[in-house]
Amino acid sequence: MQKRKLGKNGPEVSALGLGCMGMSISYGERNDPESIATIHRAIDLGVNLIVTSDAYGAGVNEELVGKALAGRRDKVLIGTKFGNVGQGGAVPEGLSPGHPQYALIACDASLKRLGVDTIDIYGLHRVDPKVPIEDTVGAMKRLVEQGKCRYLLLSEAGAQTIRRAHAVHPITAIETEYSLWSRDVEAQILPACRELGIAFTPYSPLGRGFLTATIKHVDALIPKDRRREHPRFDPANIEQNVKLLAPIEQIAQTHGCKPAQVALAWLLAQGDDIVPIPGTKRRTYLEENVAAADLKLAAAEVERLAQAFPLGVTAGTRYPEKQLQALGI
Ligand SMILES: NC(=O)c1ccc[n+]([C@@H]2O[C@H](COP(=O)([O-])OP(=O)(O)OC[C@H]3O[C@@H](n4cnc5c(N)ncnc54)[C@H](OP(=O)(O)O)[C@@H]3O)[C@@H](O)[C@H]2O)c1
Repeated sequence: MQKRKLGKNGPEVSALGLGCMGMSISYGERNDPESIATIHRAIDLGVNLIVTSDAYGAGVNEELVGKALAGRRDKVLIGTKFGNVGQGGAVPEGLSPGHPQYALIACDASLKRLGVDTIDIYGLHRVDPKVPIEDTVGAMKRLVEQGKCRYLLLSEAGAQTIRRAHAVHPITAIETEYSLWSRDVEAQILPACRELGIAFTPYSPLGRGFLTATIKHVDALIPKDRRREHPRFDPANIEQNVKLLAPIEQIAQTHGCKPAQVALAWLLAQGDDIVPIPGTKRRTYLEENVAAADLKLAAAEVERLAQAFPLGVTAGTRYPEKQLQALGI
């Protein structure tokens, strides 16, 4: 697997990471043995960036990742995050998710669940509007000084916040949604990252599965699947959005590959600073996704896809209304 450098001051990572959220929450049925086998297969295939958060099942996903990485710790970089308590997890009374004291509590809890001494990439999952970013990142900087984490990341932060945070301690990567159907980061956030030498690790790079062309109707999702609450998977919107898939499917056909691989190859073609973190709990999908790192799209294909997915073309917002309010702060 080819490598990319994670930001100006960061480590080398595989061109694609592995997102572990869906192994424990949100998408489909859980299958822990297959999820663990998927993490092991990823390592065998050269993936060295394994991504989780304390929010995924209030620590359940970190425990799963910790279990999978036992005996393999030295082969990977572990990324985890704190501060997204809307998805579970409790903040002690008097503190809020971005409070410096909470950052220290959350980090210790993550270290314990992961069963490691240090977290390679520690992230703020959502910016806390009640706490100046300097204070939160100041606490994260102390964690680096204490050796509890090595590099820092922000998720879904606005461009101004990224600049302010980076002035306190170098930010190695920004983990925010980015894919063909979610291109809003191209306006301000990606340029800010590039100016500051910060890498970008797109989450939901497969559009939460939609861009794989395997979810063409909401009935493809089991009743408790959280995507049913996402506007883009609303039956009326999905009917519109399915029409966008044609160029991805056509290009996939030309290359004799899967639409998922085309969606990932398009992202990889956006720059060497881009390290997508597709999520899956199945070895078969993982193998397809890893192979996308070797898929070279022609410049005309990259451009055709960009033209087919201009900003605003997708029907439905990328999160339900309430969660949208926590983005871009
Ligand atoms: N920072 C944040 O706020 C944030 C938010 C969301 C996600 N994330 C991170 O980003 C990671 C990836 O995002 P995501 O999981 O939301 O979305 P994604 O990677 O865009 O899509 C995941 C979905 O696509 C399916 N899939 C994966 N590869 C496939 C393939 N080759 N063919 C067909 N289907 C395929 C998966 O199925 P199966 O599950 O059945 O394998 C899963 O349902 C997460 O795991 C998480 O670590 C971060």
